[in-house]
Amino acid sequence: MNFQISSLKEYQETYKKSIENPSEFWDEVASHFYWREKWEKTFEYDWSIPETKWFIGGKLNITENCLDRHLETRGDQTAIIWEPNNPKDTVIHVTYKQLHSKVCQFANVLKNNGVVKGDRVCIYMPMVLELSIAVLACARIGAVHSVVFAGFSSTALAARINDAECKILLTADGGFRGDKITPLKDIADEALKTCPSIQKSIVYQRTKQNVFWNNKIDVWWHDELRKVDDNCPAEVMDSEDMLFILYTSGSTGKPKGMVHTCGGYMVYATYSFQNVFQYKQGDVYWCTADIGWITGHSYIVYGPLASGATTVMFEGVPSYPDFGRFWEVCEKHKVNQFYTAPTAIRALAKHPTELVNKYDLSSLKVLGTVGEPINEEAWHWYDDNVGKNKCPIVDTWWQTETGGMMISSLAGVTNDKPTFATLPLPGIQPVLLDNNGEEITKQKAEGILAIKHPWPSLARTIYGNHERYKNVYFSAYPNHYFPGDGALRDENGNYRITGRVDDVVIVSGHNLGTAPIENAINEHEKVVESAVVGFPHDIKGNALCAYVITYDNVDESTDLINEIKQIVSDFIGPIAKPDKIIFVSGLPKTRSGKIMRRILRKIASNDVTNLGDISTLLNPNVVEEIINSFK
Ligand code: PRX
Repeated sequence: MNFQISSLKEYQETYKKSIENPSEFWDEVASHFYWREKWEKTFEYDWSIPETKWFIGGKLNITENCLDRHLETRGDQTAIIWEPNNPKDTVIHVTYKQLHSKVCQFANVLKNNGVVKGDRVCIYMPMVLELSIAVLACARIGAVHSVVFAGFSSTALAARINDAECKILLTADGGFRGDKITPLKDIADEALKTCPSIQKSIVYQRTKQNVFWNNKIDVWWHDELRKVDDNCPAEVMDSEDMLFILYTSGSTGKPKGMVHTCGGYMVYATYSFQNVFQYKQGDVYWCTADIGWITGHSYIVYGPLASGATTVMFEGVPSYPDFGRFWEVCEKHKVNQFYTAPTAIRALAKHPTELVNKYDLSSLKVLGTVGEPINEEAWHWYDDNVGKNKCPIVDTWWQTETGGMMISSLAGVTNDKPTFATLPLPGIQPVLLDNNGEEITKQKAEGILAIKHPWPSLARTIYGNHERYKNVYFSAYPNHYFPGDGALRDENGNYRITGRVDDVVIVSGHNLGTAPIENAINEHEKVVESAVVGFPHDIKGNALCAYVITYDNVDESTDLINEIKQIVSDFIGPIAKPDKIIFVSGLPKTRSGKIMRRILRKIASNDVTNLGDISTLLNPNVVEEIINSFK
């Protein structure tokens, strides 16, 4: 496959061509993949419906591109290096041939348990090798995977299972994370009490802890494997058939099940992987994300494997057994491309540089970041200490919805610039809009980021709720995709993402809607109403502050604070627990009853000098009171 851009000039020419003649451009890119039947038309879209289709009429199976296609050329090359949580445990190297066999075998397990094309399979697993196998096994038989991050609570898991009406759950007894064990089966058991669609739960044994067993639905992964062989022809999928659902937070209560389809997603995840990271055959690439997030889907599993790469999958956390763990793994596997989140960089930068310097990082060629804006200080720490000032840093802006990286430098090919995601990838047309939705044509400007032409891996809908898809992404600015971020552009056309412009807060790289957290807090019997906002935090990027109104005569005690934090943890997961809980008697509201979060954000950030015009509020006095209660 050769669609790697190798010079700035080539990038400029390719970009121009991709905009002037997108059909020709994407036809060429897609021709590098293995299709059972070629597409009839490159793309079609109407953003007023909204509907987008790519490689129309094309037939394929993504696993034939990730696995079968490599068997002859690199069957004995390592596809995945699995690094355990505990460095003393055994590393696993799986070749393409072995991975193919394992995926086919587990695909047969799924079939044996009644899964057919189009069925939804929920995967709630730790970062074991079998998680990658499970994802690919679903794709092999045309089942739709919905991976739920193993840090989510039983309530959050149940909501996701029920929304997609999953037929099967794949889980594990428990998961290792640093020195802790997550009791995944217990959490799943609790969730399944309210999930009538689940017929079977296939349980992988990882921690070997005791688990409750429900003979009606639970089966052991290893028992099921014994019943099948590894011969499983790939299901032929239409380009626009669903490949997976992945939930992301929105500004209103329910999570959004973003739907990605087979053809366009495959092409774009792979194209962007190879160009941004400039992956060369034989390189070892490591993305530290969890497969529970889009980064893991696109850049641990699908993009690297479709490229025939060697991809590292890490079960652990950056802090265990100590804060040198990432660098130890880089040294051990001679990692060439390393991709992580700014929050991890900031956390590691707090520790002595000796923890980095003691490892040989000379194999590193490219560093990457994703998930939130990276601040100048963290960028330089990464550049100086990890990259030793010789590795380009790709700051990749994208989203669950976009399926692949949208704005990023191409490592060593286009220039990087601290804190800037820089330039759009070929085929991506970002624009800045003003508050009236008019395109800002001036080069150096700040505004609302929008995309004005479709690209192959755009999520096609929100599962079961196309109306919401239309409202969230295509209504505010007609004829544009609206990602919910603000950005500025420098005189050379480089973009810097300035943060969310909606009610989503990125905490430690996790995308959290404030509405579901408020809903959880409001479930507490002593709470009348709440408002949750983000405020800047040294390591996490943002932390959460909850303003809470309680009923009269309630004791606003530390116990109550802890109960509120617990309820958030129970409903969503520990990642969503607010750092600050402030009891207030009222919330600043507009006359139409909308909470003025802008004001609450400023107060939580200790920035009360310029609150703007508050005279139009229904209850301006409450602002002063909140400021005082904060002191
Ligand atoms: O606000 C942007 C931020 O993360 C959001 C998407 O979150 P999620 O769907 O969870 O996907 C994260 C991994 C792709 C975006 O709307 N974001 C992501 N990457 C960057 C970023 N903000 C600034 N710079 C980035 N490189």
